[in-house]
Amino acid sequence: MKQFVFILFLTFLISGNTNAQRETTIYDESKVPEYQLPDLLTRFNGRKVKSEKVWDTKRRPEILKVFTDEVYGKVPENLKISDVKVWETSDNALNGLAIRKQISLFFTKNDKNLEVTILMYLPKSVNKAPVFLALNFTGNHTVCSDPNIRLTESWVENNPSIGIINNRITEQSRGSNSDSYPIEEIIKAGYGLVTVYYGDIDPDKNDFSDGIEPFFYKGNQTKPNQDEWGSIAAWSWGLSRVMDYLETDQLVDSKKVAVLGHSRLGKTALWAGATDQRFAIIISNESGCGGAALSKRIFGETVQTINTSFPHWFCDNFLKYNSNEEQLPVDQHMLLALIAPRPLYVASAEGDQWADPHGEFLSAKYASAIYELFGLEGLPVKEMPEVNLPVMGTIGYHIRSGKHHLTAYDWEQYLKFADKHFK
Ligand code: GCU
Repeated sequence: MKQFVFILFLTFLISGNTNAQRETTIYDESKVPEYQLPDLLTRFNGRKVKSEKVWDTKRRPEILKVFTDEVYGKVPENLKISDVKVWETSDNALNGLAIRKQISLFFTKNDKNLEVTILMYLPKSVNKAPVFLALNFTGNHTVCSDPNIRLTESWVENNPSIGIINNRITEQSRGSNSDSYPIEEIIKAGYGLVTVYYGDIDPDKNDFSDGIEPFFYKGNQTKPNQDEWGSIAAWSWGLSRVMDYLETDQLVDSKKVAVLGHSRLGKTALWAGATDQRFAIIISNESGCGGAALSKRIFGETVQTINTSFPHWFCDNFLKYNSNEEQLPVDQHMLLALIAPRPLYVASAEGDQWADPHGEFLSAKYASAIYELFGLEGLPVKEMPEVNLPVMGTIGYHIRSGKHHLTAYDWEQYLKFADKHFK
């Protein structure tokens, strides 16, 4: 009996330790616990995938289904754009360099209305321009100091340092994020920039009473069901609706839309690329946990940490994997593989260990198996490249010096990558 109690006590100590370990963030490579990744080329029924056809018709759909049901959540119903209003088209923007266009998409269902405003800068020199489509964090007017950019009326997270008070923006924040959007360089390289404030689609807070989700509630429902969308899936749904609009705009080449996002919006760009194959290039800037970084590799942010800090980003089913990543039937290299054979760029920053740069790189490396199935080179290297030495195959990757941010350096690489694949 004594022995039994002792063993019980030991078990308690050991499991106590494991949990304690999970509570401290791992930043030391030698402390990463062992993990096993599902094989991309083996179906859930154990059969091997040997052709593009089996990938497209069997393996890809089954992986997409797991990500939909267990990670990001289903879109409950289709909803088309109800109305489009073009506020202006000016061919004299940025000192005559660009066309500026501002358009609102309206979504209406029962008594609910949502307005999503698109800002575009397009090069005058290109007829039907290839574009980068990027959601932004604090309103369209923050990407550039242009006084003509309309101010959003949507909820915005408070930031008194740039005059965002009572969750409303003011003039003070105009241009405050312009270092992340080198618009002139983009235009001079022959590309357009299309941007939308992500909070127009769904305000980024743990509250499902606003944004697009309530449009689909049935009866007394107050939040999405447990396999239905969190905010990441809602934002990427919004990207697809912007794409619906771009397909109708004569100034844009909708076959050449590169969807790009930073951080949580990088997670969103990846999910948009996985669910909507009209996006021709997908770019994830420091997307980290729930984005490009592997989840089963415990380093930096984990499933439990992200679900605790941002409970509204994923579907509720994802909570099952808190400190239980080994039970996940998929990992993020499989999300990246859903983008194949389209060009994909994954970027990390040395000072962004929270996002696990090595885990982001490994994910891109393992996704390469599917690009190879298509006869393409995925990542052109097997080991992580040196800092500030980008590599570009059909998958591109860099780790740059500096912190978690979308920088001019990152854009320089994305423009080169777009040239390589679009021109
Ligand atoms: C937090 C979060 C990350 C996310 C980032 C961002 O740091 O933990 O997962 O990528 O915010 O979106 O800025």
